[in-house]
Amino acid sequence: MNETERDYIIEGTELVKRFKDMRAVDGISLKVCRGEIYGFLGPNGAGKTTTVRMLTTMDPPTSGTILIDGRDARTEYLVTRRQIGVIQQQNSLEKDISVRENIMHHALMQGLSVAESKKRMMELCEIMELTDRLDMLVEKLSGGWKRRVSIVCSMIHKPAILFLDEPTTGLDTQSRNLLWKMIRELNREGTTIFLTTHYIFEAESLCNRVGIINKGRMVAEGTPWELKMRLGPIKLEVERGDGEHDVTYYPDRASAKKAAESVPPESNYSIRATNLEDVFLELTGRSI
Ligand SMILES: Nc1ncnc2c1ncn2[C@@H]1O[C@H](COP(=O)(O)OP(=O)(O)O)[C@@H](O)[C@H]1O
Ligand SMILES: [Mg+2]
Repeated sequence: MNETERDYIIEGTELVKRFKDMRAVDGISLKVCRGEIYGFLGPNGAGKTTTVRMLTTMDPPTSGTILIDGRDARTEYLVTRRQIGVIQQQNSLEKDISVRENIMHHALMQGLSVAESKKRMMELCEIMELTDRLDMLVEKLSGGWKRRVSIVCSMIHKPAILFLDEPTTGLDTQSRNLLWKMIRELNREGTTIFLTTHYIFEAESLCNRVGIINKGRMVAEGTPWELKMRLGPIKLEVERGDGEHDVTYYPDRASAKKAAESVPPESNYSIRATNLEDVFLELTGRSI
């Protein structure tokens, strides 16, 4: 497929968000294809949440344009809003009522009938494995379960795109893995996923494509494999006498091993697969 034939569901162009004299987002352009899981990866303070707030119509950009499914998000606000579901960093559930009451309340607010709401709730709770917990109070649930309830609430109106801002921050490994499984499942059912993360491994294992951002700017974009191939898929790191490391990337393990043969015997070295942290480090000089 060439560039013009691609089916983009999100197109942000030259997005800028200024807070007083600080540019939190400083000219980011990005395109997300229908049906993909797109990861927005960057360190804390890079501008991920600010970008999500603009793409989801919660905050207007200082400048730049946003098309959601080909429509201007600002002038066609209501249509756009129906296309998207959003899960913010802080969940906005009512703690002292049940899971069912939270979901139904949300569904009715979205304008669904009672019958539709119940049907959709049961479908989504099946995917999220929440059916047994419908009558529990939200305050009794762990962080991972609360996140699932938030996902059901934000998917109740069948949005084409689900935005998740750091969905697994603060979750233990098991809840994180389960959540990834659920996100993949929603994606298989046709939902485009846009998620932000500062976890390298999350971006690598979950996302079809990632945009790496730093200080409000996009520093690289591509599939995790493409980005790692820019450096070379195998990394050789050799410890120098002064405590610093010399890093070289190789096209395969055999050539890295061959190069390691000439490392002085007193130096430690390691050979491993390149990851997105390496990509970020090479591009910005700092770690995520
Ligand atoms: N409402 C706001 N007012 C002033 N500064 C803000 C506001 N929201 C975010 N910022 C600043 O913008 C930068 C980017 O923040 P944010 O988008 O939250 O980053 P991230 O989500 O990548 O951690 C940070 O320096 C943050 O302090
Ligand atoms: Mg954030």
